[in-house]
Amino acid sequence: MSGHEPDETWWKTRSVYQIYPRSFRDANGDGMGDLAGITQGLSAIKALGAGIVWMSPIFRSPMVDNGYDMSGYREIDPLFGTMADFEALLAEAKRLDLKIVLDIALNHTSIDHPWFQAALADPSGPYRDYYIWRDEPNNWQSIFGGPAWSKADGDDAFYLHLFDKTQADLNWENPEVREEIYGAMRFWLDKGVSGFRLDVVTVISKPPGLPDAPDPRPMPLYDMLAGGPRLHEWLRDMRREVFDPYDCVAIGEGPGLNPERAAAVVNPADPMLHLIYHFDFVDHTGARHGKDWDRVWFKSVFDRWDKGIGPNGWNSCVVGNHDLRRLIARFGDPKADPDLVAKALAATYVLQRATPFIYQGDELGLGDTTITSVHELDDVWAKTTYRLALSKGNSEAEALAKAVAMTRDHARTPYPWTPEGGFGTGTPWLKPTPNRGGVDLASQQADEHSVWAFYRALLELRAKDTETWVFGAYEDLLPEHESLFAYRRGAYGLVCVNLGGQTCALPETITALLAERTCILTSGDVTPTHMGPWSTQVCA
Ligand code: NOJ
Repeated sequence: MSGHEPDETWWKTRSVYQIYPRSFRDANGDGMGDLAGITQGLSAIKALGAGIVWMSPIFRSPMVDNGYDMSGYREIDPLFGTMADFEALLAEAKRLDLKIVLDIALNHTSIDHPWFQAALADPSGPYRDYYIWRDEPNNWQSIFGGPAWSKADGDDAFYLHLFDKTQADLNWENPEVREEIYGAMRFWLDKGVSGFRLDVVTVISKPPGLPDAPDPRPMPLYDMLAGGPRLHEWLRDMRREVFDPYDCVAIGEGPGLNPERAAAVVNPADPMLHLIYHFDFVDHTGARHGKDWDRVWFKSVFDRWDKGIGPNGWNSCVVGNHDLRRLIARFGDPKADPDLVAKALAATYVLQRATPFIYQGDELGLGDTTITSVHELDDVWAKTTYRLALSKGNSEAEALAKAVAMTRDHARTPYPWTPEGGFGTGTPWLKPTPNRGGVDLASQQADEHSVWAFYRALLELRAKDTETWVFGAYEDLLPEHESLFAYRRGAYGLVCVNLGGQTCALPETITALLAERTCILTSGDVTPTHMGPWSTQVCA
């Protein structure tokens, strides 16, 4: 290590596990995951070795976007339980030494939120200015498809919604809005949560005058909006007024980020957020639409972010989450053994110089689900995609194929606790992913060679040798190689992964490094000179 003193801040050394509350565990048998179910399931997360639990939104919501459309910032949605259930969850997390991070949508509210309803009821009243209105829309397109502007029934003006038309963008220029959100965050911090994941926080500051975008399509629009003129000012305020008085972590979701923008936001010399995660893997359309994917590019993303943020701030590593098709479906190979693929991918991101985020089910190697009818879709984005495809003249089958190719439902199916399912006694709200055999927690906990056991071993390494696996310098040793991913961590750490379906001869530089080290963890066929398809070795 290069004279760097490890800073043992818990949000660097602990790993994050993301829960999708609707799908984690259903304790009351109504088919919907709930807080009591999460409380029961926390010990499994502890056993895996994660130390921070991020829960997708649990707040009051009409659930058009499954909670990312909030209608109450200080209330638990009854679907998930009560405040008492939440307090019990916090107590159990404390007992297990797990930190709870809540997910808050602060760019927009549901149009059911009392603020929006008051804004409609009294256009000259104080709540009108909580949202963004125009007589004539600009050319911005909603991320989910269609115009980013709608009119409420009986109202004269258009309101802005970067997402669904039921998710109205808040006017952050209004100091009362900022105070409301800051107050809500303090409310949960006072209850004992350890921080927040701030939904699409990069786009809260809109350009003055809301000019037309040069390219109004969603992703270029994100790029334009993520550089908002007052973003830094508000993040600094938030840090000072909300986060600094508590021992907590603020994690930004960062659409439209590049390393330069991100580094500014997590620079300890100018405190704003503690962590922010980028969209390079999210935006990768090749993988999203099931085409083969470029390994050299995949590796370059890790390198670019390590170099971009590494020297000052601290990186985070989100490769799979509730907005994407399953990790092994996006960056895998349908012809390969899915368990090997899952382990290989785990070794690419869990041991980066970053806080890794593990999305529920990825630690079991869960794959995409099967969707055969439009009625099986829940995701509002997928349903919009389907509708828009029909309106453009596609057949029902074509429209369904488009929706199935992108739907976030793949990652939102009930968590498989046992070979039979074990999610709960009721009929689950979303059809479970067909089990290819052995993709459930109970089976994998009983099998020392399972994907789960592999993840646990990686997390244990990270927790035990922080100098190497958390803080050790990162170096990609074969950036141009078309299937091998070999990287160093600190003085001793070495990870080699074959991301391809063919056996690969190891370059001499790598065999020499391997010869000086002891293998701690392997998967697939590895010899001192060759690595079999999708094999992995972790050495130190
Ligand atoms: C990002 C969230 O991860 C996603 O699920 C949501 O639909 C949008 N933000 C809008 O809140």
